[in-house]
Amino acid sequence: MTVDIRRYLDEKREEVDRFLETIIPDAKTPPTTLHEGMRYSLFAGGKRVRPILAIAAAEAVGTPSKAVLAVASSLELIHTYSLIHDDLPAMDNDDYRRGKLTNHKVFGEAMAILAGDALLTLAFELCSRQDLMDDLAPTRQVQLIHELAVGSGNLGMVGGQVLDIQAENRDIDLATLQTIHKHKTGMLIRASVRMGAIAASATAAQLGQLTAYAEDVGLAFQIADDVLNVTGTREELGKDANTDAQRGKKTYPAFHGIEGARALADQCVDRAIGHLRAFDAKADPLRELARYIAARKN
Ligand code: IPE
Ligand code: IPE
Ligand code: MG
Ligand code: MG
Repeated sequence: MTVDIRRYLDEKREEVDRFLETIIPDAKTPPTTLHEGMRYSLFAGGKRVRPILAIAAAEAVGTPSKAVLAVASSLELIHTYSLIHDDLPAMDNDDYRRGKLTNHKVFGEAMAILAGDALLTLAFELCSRQDLMDDLAPTRQVQLIHELAVGSGNLGMVGGQVLDIQAENRDIDLATLQTIHKHKTGMLIRASVRMGAIAASATAAQLGQLTAYAEDVGLAFQIADDVLNVTGTREELGKDANTDAQRGKKTYPAFHGIEGARALADQCVDRAIGHLRAFDAKADPLRELARYIAARKN
């Protein structure tokens, strides 16, 4: 049986959105500007790729606990914070995100920084709540929190953002670009898959195979993002296009051309799916997600 990936994405996205709605204060809760700002970006229409990867990884292992949804949602809180900060004038200075004005354009820079800070902190609050962890052992819960920290911190996403900024207007080589991508995007995607697997009590062997899958998917994801930056429109992407070249960012299409970059993303997808050979049909959503991530239009 093949998976209808569109339908799978829609269903899981709605599930994640419904859950997020239950853990984030409404816009009338003081400080109202902060909660308005957090909600503005969180509910602006993200694809929820990271939570969905976590859920699909848990399903691939087979015994997902109810904690998976909380764990998956924490990744979206981190991701949304990273986008708010990434768009700030001191970083990429972007005006549009998820089809709307960027957070700082609406709420001002100070509030955008604070909304990002609060989303980051809320992610760890969420993962450390015991009432949402079902019967997950406390040692596993600590392991999940650790994965989230490693994926998003100085040696993960934030570290990658630093390398990305430092590479602006510099003639970097392909190995450096790959290191940037592996960190700024890859590490949170890696954490997503690993956290889903850990929440479903994966064996060490399964975790290793899923980690290898995630690393290839993460690279495919960022190569696709680079290609879309060149080929997409603001309407399709929900954010301004062609910004990498304008900002002197060397990306995969700069090294390999558009078709070459697309071919590389496809190779990453094939490798990713190859790592799942020991898994049965319960891993089909993961297989289809890998294909979707490289072929997506936004
Ligand atoms: C965009 O991420 C930023 C990158 C890390 C490349 P997504 O393409 O997942 O963006 P949303 O969440 O759907 O808006
Ligand atoms: C965003 O990377 C990565 C993170 C937010 C961690 P980019 O700056 O390349 O992505 P877009 O084009 O703004 O979405
Ligand atoms: Mg950036
Ligand atoms: Mg950016």
